[in-house]
Formats: sequence, structure tokens, C-alpha cells
Amino acid sequence: MSEPRGGQIVNVMKEERLFSPSPEFSAKARIKSIEEYERLWKESAADIPGFWGKMAEELHWFKPFDKVLEWNEPFAKWFVGGQTNVSYNCLDVHLSTPRRNKAALIWEGEPGDTRVYTYQMLHTEVCKFANVLKKLGIGQGDVVSMYMPMVPELVIAMLACARIGAIHCVIFAGFSSEAIAERNRDASAKLIITADQGWRRGAKLPLKANVDAALEKSPTVQKCVVLKRVGDPAPMKEGRDFWWHDLMAEASDVCPAQPMDSEAPLFILYTSGSTGKPKGVKHTTAGYNLYAKKTTEWVFDVRDEDVFWCTADVGWITGHTYIVYGPLSAGVTTFVYEGAPNAPREDRWWSLIEKYKINILYTAPTAIRTFIKWGDHWVDQHDLSSLRLLGSVGEGINPEAWMWYYEKIGGSRCPIVDTWWQTETGGIMMSPLPGAIPLKPGSCTKPLPGIIPEIVAEDGKPVEPGHGGWLVIAKPWPGMLRGIWGDDERYKIQYWSDVKGKYLCGDNARCDADGYYWIMGRIDDVLNVSGHRLSTIEIESALVSHEAVAEAAAVGRPHEIKGEAVAVFVTLASGYEPSDELRKKLRDHVRKEIGAFCVPDDIRFTTALPKTRSGKIMRRLLRDIAAGRQTTGDTTTLEDFSVLARLRSDEE
Ligand code: WTA
Repeated sequence: MSEPRGGQIVNVMKEERLFSPSPEFSAKARIKSIEEYERLWKESAADIPGFWGKMAEELHWFKPFDKVLEWNEPFAKWFVGGQTNVSYNCLDVHLSTPRRNKAALIWEGEPGDTRVYTYQMLHTEVCKFANVLKKLGIGQGDVVSMYMPMVPELVIAMLACARIGAIHCVIFAGFSSEAIAERNRDASAKLIITADQGWRRGAKLPLKANVDAALEKSPTVQKCVVLKRVGDPAPMKEGRDFWWHDLMAEASDVCPAQPMDSEAPLFILYTSGSTGKPKGVKHTTAGYNLYAKKTTEWVFDVRDEDVFWCTADVGWITGHTYIVYGPLSAGVTTFVYEGAPNAPREDRWWSLIEKYKINILYTAPTAIRTFIKWGDHWVDQHDLSSLRLLGSVGEGINPEAWMWYYEKIGGSRCPIVDTWWQTETGGIMMSPLPGAIPLKPGSCTKPLPGIIPEIVAEDGKPVEPGHGGWLVIAKPWPGMLRGIWGDDERYKIQYWSDVKGKYLCGDNARCDADGYYWIMGRIDDVLNVSGHRLSTIEIESALVSHEAVAEAAAVGRPHEIKGEAVAVFVTLASGYEPSDELRKKLRDHVRKEIGAFCVPDDIRFTTALPKTRSGKIMRRLLRDIAAGRQTTGDTTTLEDFSVLARLRSDEE
């Protein structure tokens, strides 16, 4: 291993396993070989507008575009002068094809109730709700917030907004009233849609009550539509609150899709900044729609007979793009499950896969590590042979968890697409194409066609091959965010100021000799121990590769001599108890796996790690705890507040 240089990060991860797609998988895939992938990528890189212009022929255009790309750095306009409609591309285009009577959406509620919507049925519901929105005074450019459980009506409401040119703003149903109000105000939402309550592990979530509290501090919101999901009495405010079913009973099912300008905003989605106020990431119509469709087809290699299950919540970008817009534009059957993975038991997901014969499962490393912790016996009770492809998103997947996912869930037969992307990128940016690119556990492999990544040092110059640095995207792409809602300045500073002319994504990465990319975590999460810059994922992966460890989070804390010391927080696999002896074993293990300079100074055992609603470990909070500081900055995205209190009380 060589010494780190300014702005570069040492790479200590050594992963040499390679998994090639089976000949049968490749034969049926859209892109069948690495050569075919490379040809496509090179062709795209040589002429970005030409490439996307050709792809855009796959959308329905009410009015064709005049120009593919207008780039006034950092503001992009795609498919300028064109008019299309996202709801039309998701629904209407299929109605004149055999997909008309195919299941668009299969849903199961936590209590076990189920519903199936064909493309025709979904179209009808969307048209009706679009008319409801109009009747409530919603039109083009109005913002509609949604604070709903994972029910079909959430998808219907999103598509209904898209149909009439309203802008949706989905707020994850785990957020507090304070967080709802903040988003309502920032987005100037006019209407909010919610449910009486939601189900979570058999308990009832007070959704309407949270909205009632939020509306006291949301002056722009005039009306509220309430879906009856659970059925307990809910107080309704006369003139402001309306029942979904009452409005739908009177609505006409005729509502032609409104032709929308390519760059008309489609949605706002708030994502946490590392400090302070959440950012309203803005996505627009044509570019996002095209990018969602093409990435769904390339990465998941979807086929007409597939049932596709993305386990994310619709309240974050993965749900927007790969539950709703991608699969429906591609004409696939999307599966949605409402509840918790351990309701009523820890095998709910595996029983769903068996019951609905799911073919593609797309989930997050945090879920995979949880299942490992719960134990293999839950999986063993079920037939998972319908699966043919697995996906991962949200964080780096530790090689150990990757192998378990590959063998235990995929039966060593299903490729794993480790997809790297962000709320801001709209869709997947780097990922294996499952029929073409051999896999390395822990690597998101290669950029998709039309995506040009680079790794640079703080001075914007490329790092030496094999070294870690800042990951930037050198050319605009159709799915990119068009700004931060109401804050162009923040958009410029956050993404386009540090490296001239390139999109700074905020992650570190390295590219190996085979051109494979390895994400090394957020720029802010880097440790600096005795002048060695280390990425958190490498230390964590070393720990997780020990049988006693279920999850690990590594952070730096100030250290007089070393600059930073390594502090790790560890949750144990079932059957293991915290002890000094285990601490010593884990230190030895890290020494052996990566080297003495990374051996953790502090190892703290804990029952849970603080995570965001989307399952990412909040290392920022752990840094405060490791340093013995008060927690500062935004904690509204924290999934479970009690974890923080427990972590503090776990301190020795
Ligand atoms: C991280 C989720 C490693 C990364 C779609 C990114 C990943 C942030 C991966 C975006 C991956 C996502 N490997 N890290 N495959 N996928 N990340 O906005 O740090 O919720 O910048 O979007 O998650 O998170 P977001």
C-alpha cells in the first residue's frame, strides 16, 4: 500500500472475487456482453446529446423537442421545446397494447389485505383523482404534499398530480409534524393528502393527527384529503378536510393528460443536508421520465413477465423512481408491501416472495444486515426460486453482506446489481448491467451509458489511478436535479463550486485497474489517522466480516497525537455478548484484515445504530457521541430517536 497524497484516500480494501453472469442469463439480457456495454458507453460518451436524443424517441411527445440539451452551467434544460406527460408515459401508452390488462401494481397491506390494479384500472383511478384535484382548485404548478402509508392511493395521487401538471412533494410517513410543516412551508404546498392512520408492526401510526399539528404551522396549505386506511374515527375540520372516498365517488374517470413542457417541475423531494435545513431537490418532466425508464430497463433488465419488488418507501427517491415512474414507464408489474419486515414474523418478506413469485428484489444493505442478524432459519422456510435478480442501494454493501445476499437469498444464481446514485441524480448512475458486467462484491462496477464519472483531488485534478478521491460527474445527464427548490445559490455552492464545471456528488470513490468504481462513503465521513486518510466503509467491512458482528459504524474522534482516533460502534449477531475479550478479538481481526494503523481505539457495543429513515447510518451523530459532544445539527431525519438516548446511556 502506498502513502496517501494530498486530497487522496488510502485504499485498504482487497476484494478479488469476480462473479460473471451465467450464459443463460446473458443470452436473455438486453445487453449481453461486456463488449456490447463498452460499445454503448463509448458511443454515448462521444455524443451525449445525440445519444439521449435517440433514447427520447421512446417517450410519447405531444410536441417534439427542438433541441436535446441547453447547458448553462450549472442549469440544464433537456428536450427543449418538447411537450410530454409522465402519467401518459406510465399509463396511457400501454392501453393500446396487450399490457392493458396486465397487473401494473400488486399490493399487500401489513394486515394481509391485497389489491391488484391492471394498467387500465390504474389509469381509471388516476383520472378520477386528477379530477378530484382539479375540483379542489389544484392546477399546473401547484404543490401538493403527501404524507401517506405505502398504499396504492399514494401512487395514484402522484400520477394524478403528474397528469394535470401539479408538483408532488412526498413526505415520508415517519417524519414528525415539525418536519411536515417545514417542508410544507418551504415548498408553499397548497394541498396535503394523508390517511387517518397507518399500520406499522400492528400499531397504528397517527398520520392525520400529525398532519393536523403540522397544518397549524403550514399557512399555505388550504385543504387536506384524508384516505380511510385503518378506520378509527378521525376528527375532520369542516371546509378544510375531505374524505378521499367521498370525493372519488363523484369524480369522472375522463381526464386527458395535460401536455407539459419538458422542463415543467414534476416533484420536489426533501433530502437532508449534513447540517441545517433539508434541501428540496427539484426534478422535472421529460429528462427524469426518460432516465427512470432507461435505467429500469438497463439495470434490472425487466421483462414483461416479471414481478419487480423495490422495497424502498415511496417517501424517498428509490421509491419514486423504482416503485413508480421507472417500472410503470417500462410496462412492468411493480409490487408494493405496506408494512414492516417483521410483521407478524421475521419471515414476512420471504413469504411475500414465495406467495407472489417475485422475480427481482431491490433492497438496501441495512435490511440485508438485519436479516443476517435475525438468522437464516427465517429464510430457510421459504421457496425463493422465483428470484432471478437482486439489487442493492443506499449505502455501500459490505462484501460479507453481499456474499450472504448472493448465496442465501439468490441461491448463488442471481446477479446482484449494486446501484450507486442519489436523490439528486434521479436514477441509477453506476451499476452492473446484469447480463454484461462481471461482479465484484462491494463495487458498483461501471457507469451507465451516458454517465461520465471522474475521480479528482481537491484541486480538481484527476487522482493517480487506484487512489480514492472525490467522485464527480463530468457531463450533464437527463435525470439530474434541476436545482434546490427556491435556492439557486445553495444549488451552485453545494454541487458546482468546488470542482469547476463538474457535478460534485459528495462521495469519495476510487476506480481500480479494471475500471471498476468503489464508493468509499461521504466526503465528510473520511477519517484522518496519523496522516492516513481512511474511508469508513473499509473499517466497517473488516468488522462485519467477523462472525460476531452484525453491523458496524466507524467514525473519527479528536486525538492529540494521531489527529483522529478510530471509534467504532458495533451491534452483535445473535448469540454474542459484549465483553472485553470480544473487544480484543475484534481489534486483532481489524489488524489482520487491514493493518495496525486502522485498529479502533474505542469499540462500543450497542443494541442499535442511529439511522435515517432510509436506513443510512448517521455517522455525524456518532461522531458527536464519540467525542463526548452535544448533538448539533439537524436530527429530524433520524428514524428512531430512542437510539440516541440508548447510545449515550450505553457509554462505559
Ligand atoms: C450512498 C439513494 C455506496 C451515497 C439512492 C450517496 C451508496 C447517498 C450507494 C445517496 C451504493 C447510495 N454504494 N453508497 N450502491 N447508493 N449510496 O440521496 O453516499 O438517499 O451519495 O439516494 O447514498 O443517498 P440518497
